[in-house]
Amino acid sequence: MGKIKRIGVLTSGGDAPGMNAAIRAVVRTSVYKELEVTGILNGFQGLIDASFKPLYAQSVSDIMQRGGTILKTARCEEFRLPEGRQKAYNNLKQAGIDGIVIIGGDGSFTGARLFNEEYEIPFVGIPGTIDNDIFGTDYTIGYDTALNTVVEAVDKIRDTASAHNRMFFVEVMGAEAGFIALYSGIASGAEAILIPEIKNDLQNLKELVEGGRKKSSSIIIVAEGDEGGGAFALAEAFKKEFKGYDVRVSVLGHLQRGGSPSAIDRVNASRLGQAAVEALIDDQKSVMVGLLNDEITLVPFRKAVKQHKDVDRSLIELSKILS
Ligand code: F6P
Repeated sequence: MGKIKRIGVLTSGGDAPGMNAAIRAVVRTSVYKELEVTGILNGFQGLIDASFKPLYAQSVSDIMQRGGTILKTARCEEFRLPEGRQKAYNNLKQAGIDGIVIIGGDGSFTGARLFNEEYEIPFVGIPGTIDNDIFGTDYTIGYDTALNTVVEAVDKIRDTASAHNRMFFVEVMGAEAGFIALYSGIASGAEAILIPEIKNDLQNLKELVEGGRKKSSSIIIVAEGDEGGGAFALAEAFKKEFKGYDVRVSVLGHLQRGGSPSAIDRVNASRLGQAAVEALIDDQKSVMVGLLNDEITLVPFRKAVKQHKDVDRSLIELSKILS
């Protein structure tokens, strides 16, 4: 018998479509390996409050196609403090949990890394965030679904923009990263894409929008973390500087985080869920399982969190050529 007999699983930070598929894979792989599984509710808060419930193979029936997370999620201040982590450790010991799979983003991995510097119960992470901004993996759970949601919305906005010859500033999520903006911009044929990674000025934006051709409509995709201060601020600044544009703004907001996960998100979440359980069985600790060139990879939390994942800058060029 190996060291791990009972695995805990939790979701943390912003939810992402496909988290349920990952939970399902963690539970069913554990059952297959004859391990017991405990669901931890409300992210790190559930560790502190001992909000635990046993999970069986049947507990995760009929959840793969659902957005959100059946385990609920939260951002937890108390876990940042040593006393919070001490409480969590005591509760885990009491419940006989020998290892934890955490599904979340970089904030979640930071908490897990801190815990693993102090306590022996290992954490293995699965990247789950629509932002796709985690170093060491090409893919994060929820990104593909969010991207498709954005493209569907922008296609609809394009219809009305075109009918009225209007310019739309469409704000998408990505507080620190421009992956959603860049990819959705290319996929929807946006005239300009503004992301935190690239500096832009209004004159430049005007040139991009006009592109030497007379356009019947323009779509400008703005990542929420862009230095321009978001779509509303940018639209105001643009209108002040350049007259003659009929400008509108649309902020897509949290609808990007919901909905049924895409097939890609379901399959990748399933692969990562299985890999995370196997990593715990192999005595891994303080690492994230990721996908690089479609292969499972292990990345230390320290690296996944500290290093910056850059966007592919050649795609910016591509978007300019094609728009
Ligand atoms: O981290 C994912 C994310 O969707 C970001 O893009 C966004 O800035 C943030 O979560 C919003 O978080 P909240 O749901 O707490 O408003």
